[in-house]
Amino acid sequence: MTEAFHYKGGELFCENVPVAKIAARVGTPVYIYSQDHFVRQVQAIKDAFRDVQPLVCYAVKSSSNLGLLRSMALAGAGFDTVSRGEIYRALRAGAEPGTIVFAGIGKQAEEIEYALEQGILMFNVESEPELELISKVAAKRKTEAPIALRINPDVDPQTHKYISTGKSENKFGIDLKRAEECLKRIRELKNLRLRGIHIHIGSQILKNDRHAEAIDRVLPFIEKARKMDFPLEYINVGGGFGIAYDVGQGTPIEDFAKLMVPLIQKTGLKMISEPGRFISGNGGLLLTQVVYVKKSTDKDFLIVDAAMNDLIRPTIYQAFHKIWPARHPGLKDGGALGSDSPLRDGNLGDKAAVYDVVGPICESGDYFALGRKLPRMNEGELVAVFSAGAYGQSMASNYNTRGRAAEVIVHGSEYWVARDRETVEDLIRGERLTPREVFQG
Ligand code: LLP
Repeated sequence: MTEAFHYKGGELFCENVPVAKIAARVGTPVYIYSQDHFVRQVQAIKDAFRDVQPLVCYAVKSSSNLGLLRSMALAGAGFDTVSRGEIYRALRAGAEPGTIVFAGIGKQAEEIEYALEQGILMFNVESEPELELISKVAAKRKTEAPIALRINPDVDPQTHKYISTGKSENKFGIDLKRAEECLKRIRELKNLRLRGIHIHIGSQILKNDRHAEAIDRVLPFIEKARKMDFPLEYINVGGGFGIAYDVGQGTPIEDFAKLMVPLIQKTGLKMISEPGRFISGNGGLLLTQVVYVKKSTDKDFLIVDAAMNDLIRPTIYQAFHKIWPARHPGLKDGGALGSDSPLRDGNLGDKAAVYDVVGPICESGDYFALGRKLPRMNEGELVAVFSAGAYGQSMASNYNTRGRAAEVIVHGSEYWVARDRETVEDLIRGERLTPREVFQG
C-alpha cells in the first residue's frame, strides 16, 4: 500500500497531488493532510481489535480541523474531547452525540451542562470533586449523567515525561484505592450512571505491553464494581499508540492488540479507544519554504518561513521530525517513513549539508532540527516537515503576531483549503485601541 506521503520521480506527493502544486496555489507555510490516511488508520484499529468491536473515538485535540473531523465522522469514528470547544467542533462536523466522550481534569459546570444537554456518551471523571459537580449539575437538570471513572493505574508508559499520564505522580485519573471510595459515593449520589472504566496512560507509546499492563491493573477493580452491581458496559483504553517519526520506526497496531484483546475479552466489556496521533500524525505534514541559507563561521542555518508558532513539538519536547526537500531529483521512489523509505542519510552522497533548520521567531528555541544532514538546499526551495499531522496546527499560536498557517486536505487527485491562512486583520480581532466602556475599580 502506498504511503500517503511519498516520492515519485524525485517529487513529493500527498496521495496523487504534488505538494509543490499546493504551495504554488495556497502559499507556505501550509499544513497538508491526506484524508485517506486518516480513514485508513481508523479502519486499521477496527481491524486489529475486531474481536472486541471497538468504538474508535478520535482524539480531537491531535488535529481538530472541521474538515478532518467530518471525514472521521463519516468513517464511523466517535470523538474524544476535553473541552466545550472540542465537543462543539465535533458536533459541527456531524458527530453523533452518543459517540462523544469527555475527559479532562478541570471540567467546569457550564461545560458539564452543555455536554449533558447534547447527550454525550459519557464523562470520563478524573476526581472526587468532579463527581460531586457532575452529580449536582445533573440533579439541577433533573437528569442522570453517564460517567466512566478514569483510573490512574500507576503504569509507566515509557515515553516523554510531559506526555506520560498514567503514573501516580501525574495529575490525571483517580488512583485505585480512591476509586473504590468513588463507587460508594456514586451509589449514594443516585443521578450518576456508571457506564465504564477509562484509562489513558500517555502518548507516543512504542512499547506494545504498556496498555495491556494498565488494563491488567484495573481488572480487580472492574470485578469489585461488578460485585457491587454496577452494570458496567465499557472499558475505554485511551489513546497513545505510537507512530514512526523516523524511517522505519513505529510499532504495528496488531502488536498492541494481541496483548490487549485477551484482557479486554476477560472483562466482557465493550472497548472504546481514543487514538489521536495514530490517526493524524503521519496523515499530515508542514510544508515550508527556505527564506535564507545563512552561513556562520560555526554552522549553516536553513531559515524557513514556518516557525515554532506553527509546530512547537521540537521546541517543547525536543521531538524529532523527519525533514526533507519536496524536490530531490534522482531520489528513488517510495514512501516517506516506511522501512524502505528513500529518505536515508546514506542516499545523500556528496550532496549533503548539515543545517540547523530554524524559523524566523525571536527565540533560539525556534527550530525544527539542529545539526541535521540534508540534501544541499537553496533559497526558495520547499521543505517538508513530516509527521506533523498530530499536535501541529492544533497547538499553533500567534506568537510574534504571525498568522496561523493554511490547512489543505487532499483526497486522491483533488485538494481543498480546509482553513484559510490567518490575515493580520484576523490577528487583531477583539483588540481595541481605546476603551469601549470604562469601569470604576
Ligand atoms: N485520550 C486522552 C484522555 C488524552 O489526553 C489524549 C492525549 C489522547 C486520548 C490521545 O492520545 P494520542 O493517541 O494522540 O497519543 N502534545 C503532545 C501530546 C499530548 C497528548 C495529550 N493527550 C505531543 O505533541 O506529543
